[in-house]
Amino acid sequence: MSENESDTIEARLPEQEYYRPPPAFVGQANVSDPAIYERFGEYPEGFEEYAQLLDWDDHWDTVLDASDPPFYHWFNGGRLNASYNCVDRHLDSYADKTALLWEGEPGETQRIAYQDLYRRVNEFAAVLRSVGVTEDDIVTLHLPMVPELPIAMLACARLGAPHSEVFAGFTAPALADRLADANSQYLVTIDGYHRRGEFLDHKRKADSALEDGSVDIDTVLVFTREDELHPDTKMEDGRDVLVADRLDEHRGDRLDPISRDAEDVLFLMYTSGTTGRPKGAQHGTGGYLSYVAGTSKYLFDIHPTDTYWCFADIGWITGHSYIVYGPLAIGATSVLYEGAPDHPHRGRVWEIAEKYNVDIFHTSPTAVRMFMKWGEEHLQPYDFNFKHLTTVGEPMQPEAWRWYYEHVGNESAVIVDTWWQTETGGVVISNLPALADMKPGSVGQAMPGISPAILDGAGNEIEPGSGTAGYLVLERPWPGILQTLYEDDDRYLSEYWKKFSDTDSDDWRDWVYRASDSAVQAADGYYRVLGRIDDVMNVAGHRLGSMELESAIVEVPEVAEAAVAPRDHPEKGQVPDAYVVLKEGVESSEEIRSEVIDVVSEDIGKFARPGNVEFVTVLPYTRSGKIMRRLLEEISNDRELSDTTTLEDSSVPEEIRKQVQGS
Ligand code: PRX
Repeated sequence: MSENESDTIEARLPEQEYYRPPPAFVGQANVSDPAIYERFGEYPEGFEEYAQLLDWDDHWDTVLDASDPPFYHWFNGGRLNASYNCVDRHLDSYADKTALLWEGEPGETQRIAYQDLYRRVNEFAAVLRSVGVTEDDIVTLHLPMVPELPIAMLACARLGAPHSEVFAGFTAPALADRLADANSQYLVTIDGYHRRGEFLDHKRKADSALEDGSVDIDTVLVFTREDELHPDTKMEDGRDVLVADRLDEHRGDRLDPISRDAEDVLFLMYTSGTTGRPKGAQHGTGGYLSYVAGTSKYLFDIHPTDTYWCFADIGWITGHSYIVYGPLAIGATSVLYEGAPDHPHRGRVWEIAEKYNVDIFHTSPTAVRMFMKWGEEHLQPYDFNFKHLTTVGEPMQPEAWRWYYEHVGNESAVIVDTWWQTETGGVVISNLPALADMKPGSVGQAMPGISPAILDGAGNEIEPGSGTAGYLVLERPWPGILQTLYEDDDRYLSEYWKKFSDTDSDDWRDWVYRASDSAVQAADGYYRVLGRIDDVMNVAGHRLGSMELESAIVEVPEVAEAAVAPRDHPEKGQVPDAYVVLKEGVESSEEIRSEVIDVVSEDIGKFARPGNVEFVTVLPYTRSGKIMRRLLEEISNDRELSDTTTLEDSSVPEEIRKQVQGS
């Protein structure tokens, strides 16, 4: 479905059978009483139940100040510190308990107890302060899956300095864009990390991001992955600071956590939108932390005795909310793995699960499809025992669901799909594991207090069970919602609110959050999310804007124009296909094809590489001059072409199809 063209589509998906959660799971669940839905039906007061999981310096005056929609203030008047909530307050009962269990790719382990975490967070906070970081300074982190990443996040939070972590797989230009947008004066990186058996030189990305002088950075703090600095790492005098040296000067330092207003910014997380520029989703402290603590306890069902592994990267929102802030706020033991799931062998994930006795495991459908393709034989040698398995990021096909249930869950674990977004802060649609039957391929019901709906293009609600998909919206704000897009309230309004809200109203009931996904609701109330409505792809669970890729591709000197469309892929969900028009007189060639692929790898990251590069002579433009990527998507997927009447020249798609098939 593509925005503004057809507003609803038929989505009569075959109904699937239900599976009951096993009684052993229900018996131990944090929530096994459906009365929770009634409690959260008291809106917005129900959400106080989540806020009460935290320690507050000052209690809030109002649960929700919605006087200036859609700029919502949760737990207004309250004060707290996120680092204190994730670390200090656990010391009384859990000082020796493992907070983070880190497995390096080469196989070394760090068991970081809450007491160690307290020490390391304080000492790094002292280092940050020594280079000048103070409250409200935005600190950009470009760190891979090493313990220093959560430590740096919590150290920033301790000082009241918002962090902006850029996924380590992003390369220099993507890092430079995000540094510039956040106007960040501080960058924290690491010399290298291990991936698929290689010790990667990571710091060079920071060097080249800062090379052309367009980003103004005072200080680059450099962690070291091994005892010795990576052989290729160069330190720039006056700018780069070796963290190891500074830590020596701050051993034993303790810094009081800064008490923050509930609405003070905790972090920025850049994500892809429909235009070229990434957008900085801004999350506050009180609402966000309450929401992720609450959902970690009630949905991920984490108990103090569990070992929980969210197999995702902290560089994306999933890791922020459900590796770091949520689990640590409730005193959990959270596993972190540095490397690739197939290194040095395809049983690595199950080997780690056995080694640490992981009982709750969270991953993406892409990973499940990959494990399924690799085959059960890679699981068989390991003795793991999960009670709860969850997924996020993309639609989960019933076939992959069944494989997960049978081979990973041993038919005795609960399986839960979770729908949410960078912007929602935490999970907003999902079944509470002990309270609802599982249904393969469905995300499930609304989380407590959340009010999703499916609308047609005119804003009318589509009834459950009608077999029609429409726009997925959320009708009431919730505590995890983003505050705005960093320094861009207008874009915040236009991306999420304008389509279905009465923007002149100051009554929050007239404001509706549009998620940019299409979804369908079955008669039993379960939602099934079909995918993005806008020009955003979902590649292996990573969100990628077509425009970002296109801007990279047109940097290739021979390329005149480029358009990118998603092609369905059996494992990754989608891969980008690039449609490229070359400059006059340039012949297509394998070299140009490689250049196109390389420029995307270099400008954005390897994970974004186009699957196919198609050389065409024209692109399908509408009369108003917009590229109709929907038609390219149909060509890529070998589907019938839909309506072409708004095209400037309606013969173009057929012409492209011929060129592609002939190529
Ligand atoms: O299209 C939806 C898809 O991922 C998008 C959000 O991406 P991001 O902000 O990167 O956050 C990913 C992890 C929270 C959504 O707009 N998506 C997420 N979860 C699901 C999903 N699609 C289908 N089913 C899901 N469970």
